[in-house]
Amino acid sequence: MSSRQLPLTSLVIVIQCLNQVKPNASKRGSAIGIRVSTPAADVVAFTDVAPIPRLGFLPVNAYLVQAEQPLLVDSGLPTSRPDFLQTLWSQIEPADLRWIYLTHPDRDHTGSLMEILEAAPAARLITTFLGLGILSLEYQIGLDRIFLLNPGQSLDLGDRGVTAFRPPVYDSPATTGFYDLRTGTCFTSDCFGSPVASVDQAGVDDVSELPADDLLAGQLLWATIDSPWVTSLDRTAFRASLEPLRQLDPSVVLCTHLPPAHAATTQLLDTLGTAPDGNPFVGPDQAALEKLLAELEPRVPEPSSSVISV
Ligand SMILES: [Fe+2]
Ligand SMILES: [Fe+2]
Repeated sequence: MSSRQLPLTSLVIVIQCLNQVKPNASKRGSAIGIRVSTPAADVVAFTDVAPIPRLGFLPVNAYLVQAEQPLLVDSGLPTSRPDFLQTLWSQIEPADLRWIYLTHPDRDHTGSLMEILEAAPAARLITTFLGLGILSLEYQIGLDRIFLLNPGQSLDLGDRGVTAFRPPVYDSPATTGFYDLRTGTCFTSDCFGSPVASVDQAGVDDVSELPADDLLAGQLLWATIDSPWVTSLDRTAFRASLEPLRQLDPSVVLCTHLPPAHAATTQLLDTLGTAPDGNPFVGPDQAALEKLLAELEPRVPEPSSSVISV
């Protein structure tokens, strides 16, 4: 093994050191289980957690909309695939699932996508033309399983419609969110996300349970990480782009990387509106990584004076 190749245990130590957490700080997580909750009418949430070095823990949410034609929003982390599938199928029979709404084809949203399509033959994948193109670089999905939905277009789920929209910030050109025309719940993909300080914080029932200053700082940080172009935007123009969502004023905002936000749209938008004033995010560079790795080098113990050499 070369000095650049680390065994898994070393990688875990690196992540723990970068995160500055104790090895047993988490009681939950992808290896232990996915939290199931009901954050809004007709919605089941599946909450997983991804550690992000130096930043804390990122909630990773998927949602099941229990419409007449049930709809799954995103499909979890690849590293949690067995847990995710087991948890999902505990909430719905595979044969009953009719739609998979992929907010965008990032890896933290496509973890169990192919397995779900295979297990649920009646389900069609909602994405965009760009989303389909990106997916086709890795997967083979029959076009009869695809439904292309652009921002501004609606889809009938039997007992309600959903309308797609382009969130104000995103990290993929394929991104869309949508709102439920019956309940007013709005699904915003990565927009409004935030890392949190602990695994338990990722599982709270409402963002109001998070320390307000931490939430503010976390959302601004996430906006500059996930959408680095936001710091180069004209702030007046950007704030104007938030108005359609402000006018919509959804009763519940369900983000893929934030606990549920009830009656908090104004707060979320006011925070996001200041993102153009934020500092561009710069991650640790190679020098920082090598410094950390050097600190992790096993140390040869000094010979004790009581040891007798022969
Ligand atoms: Fe993303
Ligand atoms: Fe994401």
